[in-house]
Amino acid sequence: MVLPHSTALSLLLPLSAAQNFSAWSPPGPGDVRSPCPGLSSLTSHGFISHNGKILTIPILINALNDGMNVGADFATVIGGAGLLSAPANLPSTSFDLGNLNEHNFPIEHDASLNRADNYENNGENHSFNRTIFKSALAYYDGMNATSIPVAAEAKYNRVITEGKRGPKFIYTPQQFILSYEETAIYISVMGDLIYGAAPVEYVHVSFDGSCYQVRLPYVEGWRPPTKQTNLLTLGDMVFSRNAANGEVIPEGLEFTTNTLKLAFGGYDPIIGLLVHVL
Ligand code: HEM
Repeated sequence: MVLPHSTALSLLLPLSAAQNFSAWSPPGPGDVRSPCPGLSSLTSHGFISHNGKILTIPILINALNDGMNVGADFATVIGGAGLLSAPANLPSTSFDLGNLNEHNFPIEHDASLNRADNYENNGENHSFNRTIFKSALAYYDGMNATSIPVAAEAKYNRVITEGKRGPKFIYTPQQFILSYEETAIYISVMGDLIYGAAPVEYVHVSFDGSCYQVRLPYVEGWRPPTKQTNLLTLGDMVFSRNAANGEVIPEGLEFTTNTLKLAFGGYDPIIGLLVHVL
């Protein structure tokens, strides 16, 4: 079914029958989901094959575009990072959502906003943890919408909290960049690109229950943003978010489009090697 919505995008790229903002179904037996609330939601809404398997870069480009108006540049570089997690000989051309649980290789990391750290729970780093998520969401108490400074505080608090727990906490410049980008993308896609003002209810719906119950807050009123989220917009937002919470930038690190590309992508399909500079 093609649902009416007002974006120019929908006129250019009509949704296929399987994709549906208002229809959602949980993963069934054999289906897989990921620690990423964005990808898990898109999968349960049919923008990605419902079993969560064999995700290629073209599939991701279409799904992120159709479901959230996220650019092909982002889908390509983070999708490229996802390919690294596939337990196949490199270079792999596809991955399953469950592969993304691979800790620090290259994306899943400590100090998540809604999941326990890998070492804390015998490697169980992908199931939703309501206590942790509530601690992050509490930063928005009394607010209707998120903001860059508050989102920044909530994110930094997770680093401070988990960092106190022990030497197994891993937070290098790579995780620093990734975690900033993840907060930037949720307040961009659920809110806007400049102020990051997302209704707190949307954030709640799109995270709660990760990775099995997350969904797009379409019935609550969310619609795909008319302005595209891409590496450039995320880079800008990451910069203002970091300025907002005062977290010390690791020495020598600069936020540019390329920084995000390297932190996420890092993988050169030609030489088959990680080319992180971080
Ligand atoms: C090719 C596309 C994508 C891939 C491969 C991917 C992968 C991942 C992975 C592996 C994580 C876990 C990182 C962690 O440990 O916190 C993650 C987190 C996250 N992703 Fe994605 N992602 C993609 C696209 C998106 C999109 C389009 C959104 C839009 C909302 C999104 C939102 C998030 C958020 C908010 C988190 C942080 C969750 C947390 O704090 O636990 N991602 N992503």
